[in-house]
Amino acid sequence: MINPVIRPRRLRTTPALRRLASETRLHPSELVLPMFVREGTGAAVPIQSMPGVVQHTVDSARRAVARAAEAGIGGIMLFGVPDLRDAVGTGATDPDGILNVATRALVAEVGDALVVQTDLCLDEFTDHGHCGVLSVDGTVDNDTTLERYREMALVQAASGSQLLGLSGMMDGQVAAVREALDQSGYVDTAVLAYSAKYASAFYGPFRDAVESTLVGDRRSYQLDPANRREGVREALLDISEGADIVMVKPAGSYLDVLADVSAVSDIPVWAYQVSGEYAMIEAAAAHGWIDRRRAIEESVLSIRRAGADAVLTYWAVELADWLTERPTR
Ligand code: PBG
Repeated sequence: MINPVIRPRRLRTTPALRRLASETRLHPSELVLPMFVREGTGAAVPIQSMPGVVQHTVDSARRAVARAAEAGIGGIMLFGVPDLRDAVGTGATDPDGILNVATRALVAEVGDALVVQTDLCLDEFTDHGHCGVLSVDGTVDNDTTLERYREMALVQAASGSQLLGLSGMMDGQVAAVREALDQSGYVDTAVLAYSAKYASAFYGPFRDAVESTLVGDRRSYQLDPANRREGVREALLDISEGADIVMVKPAGSYLDVLADVSAVSDIPVWAYQVSGEYAMIEAAAAHGWIDRRRAIEESVLSIRRAGADAVLTYWAVELADWLTERPTR
């Protein structure tokens, strides 16, 4: 009989020991809930490919945000679903556009209970579905788009958004937006840079959620899924341009990039568990193929373990409820 001297199993023998030896913990305050708000009044509209997630109206969003604050989550990230779209995404910079209207309403609703954040990108507002303005040859024009982002930043800041989520992947977007904010006196409006945002198939259900149809794909501006080092480069660039927080997106398939970025970053690093990651677990759970709650907890825990300080997840409120019902794990 071999008798091992070193027995790692020792620390796994009882729940109390496992709890004490746990390296990573989840807490509601580091969860952020992405929310979709559409125009019109009345009830929320379910999103087919994301069972359990809805397109809110401003009214239903008010109630949902109050509930989210009660659950103790750290913040919400707002996306607008406009009725009308055009080539330059006019709705994004209209103070009466849905995203800006919703921001004002929800900031008024929650006050300081959680951080109201907004998506700063044109794709929800353009008729071609791209994150920027197109040049005559049909490619996304980086520098013209920066002008639109600067205008968007000012309208969002004026609406009360405290943290602007720059998700468009244009070169120089952090510096451009930072400068515009500072010149207009919004020195305390913070910038969350989606630094390492990959051209991912896992954004599929999001198109449903914002009812956007994309002409072509986003590979000329979002990162190639093959590239790890480039994700770190983008994060370092954004830090040097003045980002307050950097993000890796999607999360689950990019944990290596997340670990790399978190090893070199001197500012908070967040990750976005995207619509496709949500849909996969919900679908498998609906078939009874995996344990829904355990899979959700494990997926978010893994993202934290890889180095994320906070996680954007569509399960934020439900997960926060579980965590407070059973505070240790
Ligand atoms: C861009 C944006 C997207 C997502 C968040 N911000 C779509 C895209 O880049 O294609 C996707 C989020 C998700 O899939 O949950 N405004």
